[in-house]
Amino acid sequence: MTVQKLMVVSNREPYEHRKRDGRLRCERTDGGLTSALDPALCRLGGTWIAWGSGEEDRQAVGPDDIVSVPPGSPAYQLKRVWLSPQDVKHGYLGYANQVLWPLCHITLDRVAYRKSFWKSYQALNVCFADAVNEELRRCPSAVWVHDFHLALLPKLIKQANPDEPVALFWHIPWPGPDVFRILPERCEVLDGLLAADSLVFQTADYAQMFTECAHHFLNAQIDPRNLSDGTIIHKGHRTQVSAHPISVDFQAFSQGAVAPQVELAMDLIRRRIGAAPGVRFGIGVDRLDYTKGLLKRLWALDAFFSRYPQYQGLFTFIQVAVPTRSEMEAYRRYRAVIRETVNEINRRYGRAGRRGARWRPIALHEGRIGFDTLLAYYRMADLALVSSVYDGMNLVAKEYVASQVDEAGVLLVSEMAGSALELTDALLINPYDPDGIADAVKQALEMPEEERRLRMRRMRTHLEQHDIHAWVAGCLRDAGVAPDQQPASIG
Ligand code: ADP
Ligand code: G6P
Repeated sequence: MTVQKLMVVSNREPYEHRKRDGRLRCERTDGGLTSALDPALCRLGGTWIAWGSGEEDRQAVGPDDIVSVPPGSPAYQLKRVWLSPQDVKHGYLGYANQVLWPLCHITLDRVAYRKSFWKSYQALNVCFADAVNEELRRCPSAVWVHDFHLALLPKLIKQANPDEPVALFWHIPWPGPDVFRILPERCEVLDGLLAADSLVFQTADYAQMFTECAHHFLNAQIDPRNLSDGTIIHKGHRTQVSAHPISVDFQAFSQGAVAPQVELAMDLIRRRIGAAPGVRFGIGVDRLDYTKGLLKRLWALDAFFSRYPQYQGLFTFIQVAVPTRSEMEAYRRYRAVIRETVNEINRRYGRAGRRGARWRPIALHEGRIGFDTLLAYYRMADLALVSSVYDGMNLVAKEYVASQVDEAGVLLVSEMAGSALELTDALLINPYDPDGIADAVKQALEMPEEERRLRMRRMRTHLEQHDIHAWVAGCLRDAGVAPDQQPASIG
């Protein structure tokens, strides 16, 4: 295994430059991909190639389109790729977000296919390939591609650089052949991916379904005894397929949660919500995405307050929701429905509160929050509720566990999220069953302290061992790559 420089490639950039109050600021972006990979790159160093998604991004880069990040303690280089408005509209928002995203999350009514999307998706991938190939000429590296926006990239890179190792991690679920056949370009997508040397999925089930698709649609040669951890041969090229569940920087959450500023933030939150002493909390933290099952979560909370009125006035659910993909009508509509439903539930039960007029059944905070505030919510919450209708992993579930230093909280996680397979001491819920979730919320609030501690401790021990750094090591090992660790600061 030769030591190599690492080049990460994703559509979404980990940091974006935006003007706030007339000043150029560098901010973290949202989503599991960037949350997980940023700490990994901070440790390993290297180059991350991603879409420069705003006008201010151009002002921040040097002549080679590179800017060092994170701001304040630069550890790696971010090289920005500029996409045309057409490729953003039809490639990213169209093919990636309105075709591949709902298809892989099996929300088939949301698939809005148009032929023109495919052309732009191809163009988007070519644009990334140009940037990667240019960078490879400057500095040979192992290339680690991420997610469904860039399925054609492995082939485009390998055509120009047959000897560079190329790996790809697919962050979202992969459906079986019965669903994947919906995609008119299913063969081209599989063909693009199978040029990679290593393809890694979140779970063994997704890896197995990918292998089945490769066999079914391309007649690729597979090892029938090893569908989720074996080799696929397509056009004479071997691709290693495996599964490694993505994780969190356990130490950063666990140590961060006991910082004095986090304890201050907990007091501040209690005061802001106006919660009377003794009121207990639930937490949800999500992008405002229909796959997160937010509406179903609200229906379940409605059922909870209706079935168990003794909790009216004594339990508040805090929902932190960051708007996402707002260029798309479906996402804007979803956001509006969430707001209306929260208001409706608050109107209905709010008055019934026994602990004074200020009790709110649901406190909705829309927008991005800082790390200390996030830790404060996680640490103070008696329970966390993850209700995705389908989810590759769901890092919020793991972040909650990593932040639960007092081991007092209970995690409720959807059976349809990849994290449910690992966090077996969570209470499993079915997002389609509001009464079942209501019962699980009650069970969590009434669970004896000893049982809560035991469950949380076991999950924390698991995550301490299976953290983001172990995930990186596993993925790169499968790709046959030993990264050349660069100094933490490139100041
Ligand atoms: P997805 O990748 O689909 O967005 P995950 O649950 O895996 O779902 O990851 C979401 C990530 O985004 C987590 O790291 C979470 O902490 C972060 N996040 C979500 N909402 C917010 C918010 N309002 N402010 C800050 N970070 C957020
Ligand atoms: C999920 C996807 C990521 C994506 C993120 C945010 O985590 O797996 O690839 O970056 O959502 O979505 P966005 O469209 O804003 O990049």
